[in-house]
Amino acid sequence: MGMLQNCSARAFDTLLTTIRCKRPIFESKTRVMPFKATGILFSEALALVAAAWTINATHVIESGTAKGQSTEILARVLGPSVQITTIDNDARYSLYERTKERLQQWASVRCLKGDSFAIFPQLLPTLPKHSRALVFVDGPKYEQGLALALAEFAVLDGERNEVEALRREANESHWPVFRPKSAIPNAHGAQWGID
Ligand SMILES: C[S@@+](CC[C@H](N)C(=O)[O-])C[C@H]1O[C@@H](n2cnc3c(N)ncnc32)[C@H](O)[C@@H]1O
Repeated sequence: MGMLQNCSARAFDTLLTTIRCKRPIFESKTRVMPFKATGILFSEALALVAAAWTINATHVIESGTAKGQSTEILARVLGPSVQITTIDNDARYSLYERTKERLQQWASVRCLKGDSFAIFPQLLPTLPKHSRALVFVDGPKYEQGLALALAEFAVLDGERNEVEALRREANESHWPVFRPKSAIPNAHGAQWGID
């Protein structure tokens, strides 16, 4: 347990160092992008990209494309050598076709339409043997989001049957979860999520 804590503390330190060192590169590559309020905050995206850099990711799997703000940031900042697969069931915004067309300008991006609970078990085992994949769940949210993240580990452990059970459990759960009214405090700090 102590060793595990040391490992995660070290991983967190590395992540923070990467965030500090690479923030100028991140900013230079995303400066041209307008902020879309449906999407990830730029501060969250910096942490996400830093995680990809820290593990030297070869692939990113994203659940929750929406208007593609996070996908675009990933593609711009990580460059063409990192393969990005983004999935959306199109249930929330009906934007899939429009976003897919827009994201076509990045050859590293592949869009898939469907439920990530169904797609993860098919997709994850097809990754090349020595790939280092970062999996990002930005939809579903809350209990379902956590269940999908756990489902990913179940798939990697060869326990595909667990996936449905995890989703069912999440549907039935009544955990007290934090549901922010708005993640965007004001127009000035909107992109970075700061007051
Ligand atoms: C907050 S939005 C994603 C924002 C996006 N990452 C960005 O930064 O622009 C959440 C998205 O997750 C999708 N979603 C929710 N549950 C899903 C599921 N089970 N499988 C695939 N997509 C899902 C919704 O349709 C919605 O478009």
